[in-house]
Amino acid sequence: MSADIFLVDDDELVREGLQQVLELSGWSVRTFADMSTVMSSLQRGEEPLVLISDVRLEKGDGLQLQRAVRAHDAGIPVVLITGHGDIDMAVQAMRDGAHDFLEKPFSAGKLVATTRRAMGQRKLVLENLALRQQIEQGNEWGLIGHSPEIRRVRRLISDIGQSRVDVLILGETGTGKEVAARALHAASGTQDPFVAINCSALPESVFESEMFGHESGAFTGASRRRVGKIEHARKGTVFLDEIESMPLSLQAKLLRTIQERSVERLGSNDSVAVGCRFIAATKVDLLQAARNGSFREDLYYRLEVVTLALPPLRHRTEDIPLLFGHFVTQAARRHGAEVPPWTSDDMLAWQQRDWPGNVRELRNMAERWCLGLERLPVQASRSRSGLTETLGRVERTLIENALRDHAGNVQAAADQLRIPRKTLYDKLYRLGIDAAGYRSDV
Ligand SMILES: Nc1ncnc2c1ncn2[C@@H]1O[C@H](COP(=O)(O)OP(=O)(O)OP(=O)(O)O)[C@@H](O)[C@H]1O
Ligand SMILES: [Mg+2]
Repeated sequence: MSADIFLVDDDELVREGLQQVLELSGWSVRTFADMSTVMSSLQRGEEPLVLISDVRLEKGDGLQLQRAVRAHDAGIPVVLITGHGDIDMAVQAMRDGAHDFLEKPFSAGKLVATTRRAMGQRKLVLENLALRQQIEQGNEWGLIGHSPEIRRVRRLISDIGQSRVDVLILGETGTGKEVAARALHAASGTQDPFVAINCSALPESVFESEMFGHESGAFTGASRRRVGKIEHARKGTVFLDEIESMPLSLQAKLLRTIQERSVERLGSNDSVAVGCRFIAATKVDLLQAARNGSFREDLYYRLEVVTLALPPLRHRTEDIPLLFGHFVTQAARRHGAEVPPWTSDDMLAWQQRDWPGNVRELRNMAERWCLGLERLPVQASRSRSGLTETLGRVERTLIENALRDHAGNVQAAADQLRIPRKTLYDKLYRLGIDAAGYRSDV
């Protein structure tokens, strides 16, 4: 049986004391008295999220253990417990990649805080691993990103995937509304189809029969009976893209269909049960559209019960490296080309652009990069926004990166940014950033 924490100490009393503190914080703990039993557990495939070890063990020391664990799986954070004389060893261990150390004597609170931090790092590693696997398996319907916003969206999708509630997806152009709709469809586990209808693409008359179907002879030119898309979706998903451009008369009909869960083909009096889930997407403020009279208020309220908002890319610039890496790799594979390297300055410049076309624009840029057409990093000064806005964006990017590096620990992020913690809190408040969203244990 594996546990959250592997705790290694050759002193039984110490072991029990620490174990109790950790278990009171809700973690499962497995204790070990020496290095060899830990290693054989790891080799049997049992893996903790975090390993905590005293540096002084009867046989061997924490430093050797740290190296062995690292050789086994560099992603397991190791926290070393050190005494007075061990500082040199601790420093060496940190250089070797130990996650952190606890200097004796330490309080229970310190132990828990340090463990939680290590836990956060481990969860991030695992999450990125899962994400990479998803990408490698060609699961192109997954939403890529590790910002709190995208993680929240993914969590919502998996929470409501199975339930058959209708969903309204909001977001600027290119933010991934269709990707999210397909992910929801995939999460529902149905084998029935995903049927996309672009509400702005068809003239009203065609649209109506496309959606609802018709009997033969229902209108001039209707020579054969036609099953509408809603019926065709069966227990799958009907994706109503750009719902704001649906003609008002059809909005009324759609509302009736959603409420009564049945449709009638044009020219027929028989109603057919509707088993699909409706997902609508829009770029506009539908409430505003309702006030202007171009969208039915009752339909709006029926749709907005469960909404999924996709944030613009400029509000989650920390996702840019991951997304860019993904798109560049994809493009390189497609073109059979080597990926031209980029520098961290390039990346920082990209993180400061405004990306009005959001992820789609980034994907196109990655494509050009791959073909060698986008070599010059775009300087912040060339962006269309003014100085204040640009500086604001730089500030946001740096703060978000620091919070991510320290799993939401404000003090540690403030230290990295070399500003007082109070100042960072003020900035977080002003920028509307929630540090807690960066903790990986929430
Ligand atoms: N989080 C994401 N991870 C991976 N790819 C993404 C993500 N978000 C968007 N994309 C990609 O960006 C492009 C645009 O996404 P999508 O078509 O879903 O956007 P949209 O919100 O529907 O845009 P529009 O409003 O213009 O129709 C697609 O190629 C999609 O695969
Ligand atoms: Mg779209």
